[in-house]
Amino acid sequence: MSRKRPILLLLSGEHPSLPYSEVSAILESERIEFRELKRCDQVMVIEGGERAGEHLERRAAYVMEGGALILHSRPSVEEILKACGDADWSFLRGRSFGVRISRVKEHWREFSSSELEGLVGGSVKNMTDSRVDLESPQVWIRGVITDCGVFLYRRDFRTDRRAFAQRKPKTRPFFHPGVLEPKIARAFVNLSRVREGEAFLDPFCGTGGFLIEAALLGLQTHGLDLDRRMISGAARNLRHYGLHAELILGDARRLPFRRVDGIATDPPYGRGTSTKGQSVKSILSEFMGEAHEVIRDGGRMCIAAPQEVAIQEVARKAGFRIHEVHTMRVHKSLTRSIVVVERVAG
Ligand SMILES: C[S@@+](CC[C@H](N)C(=O)[O-])C[C@H]1O[C@@H](n2cnc3c(N)ncnc32)[C@H](O)[C@@H]1O
Repeated sequence: MSRKRPILLLLSGEHPSLPYSEVSAILESERIEFRELKRCDQVMVIEGGERAGEHLERRAAYVMEGGALILHSRPSVEEILKACGDADWSFLRGRSFGVRISRVKEHWREFSSSELEGLVGGSVKNMTDSRVDLESPQVWIRGVITDCGVFLYRRDFRTDRRAFAQRKPKTRPFFHPGVLEPKIARAFVNLSRVREGEAFLDPFCGTGGFLIEAALLGLQTHGLDLDRRMISGAARNLRHYGLHAELILGDARRLPFRRVDGIATDPPYGRGTSTKGQSVKSILSEFMGEAHEVIRDGGRMCIAAPQEVAIQEVARKAGFRIHEVHTMRVHKSLTRSIVVVERVAG
């Protein structure tokens, strides 16, 4: 396209706030300067961000696809067609194209998305010398109907959704209940804002779910667990994917590390997993003090705990600054808080 356009990101609807935070975290860790222009239901529009798509495609769990924004319109056929007429289609330059429009939830449900695809496709065809190919076009023009209207964008990248499904914990050589799904694990790792080559730690690593995601991203990966079976199980799981991490049998309340760049972890909740008679809160309080010692200035930790543990308070007491808090309902009696904290310099 002739001038730099904003990028539209189509996000997963699996969580109301994590997908947006994951995008910001990835771009921050990759030192990509960007500005958020719009946040709508499952859509985020950003500006700037040279190479943003490349990093999001490689790292994100909750971005489905994205590309250069073509137009944004209110949900009215007249206005969409007018915006099509005003838009710059020079990027098509005789290349074949297809139009696919999807709807988020029930937004503008009175209007059929396939009818809109036909209208947009016809209008673009009339304005350009490009032909329509719905099987394998050279350019996909994608649309999304959401709460703030209709967006059209050129699809420039798509994340590999199947890869996450193929890594389901039950398909690994070593399984233990309580392990988070790969997509959530990946989002946790991303929220810790560690980039390739930097040191990442999961101090309650269990079967190694977070370590697998971190190692896949090329992070220098370290795991620790109190349970010998977990350490050998995590080693088997990592080997299964041809990945490597340093694994240490030890206690997260006495961390055997000098410096790490970031931490992501899902400690025991004091329910299914063993806490050897100690309350979760007291384990986490001791651990937080240690984490504050080993994480570098400006480093982040993404940590989960049952909501009633008030993990933010525990982190604050240890000297961390609270960066963001998400909640995730697991079942009737468990709501998880996911908190990102920062070690402030000084
Ligand atoms: C919820 S599981 C972690 C699951 C992990 N994310 C996975 O992918 O399997 C919590 C882990 O913390 C470990 N643990 C409990 N107390 C610990 C301590 N004081 N230090 C280190 N690990 C501990 C348990 O053995 C358990 O494996």
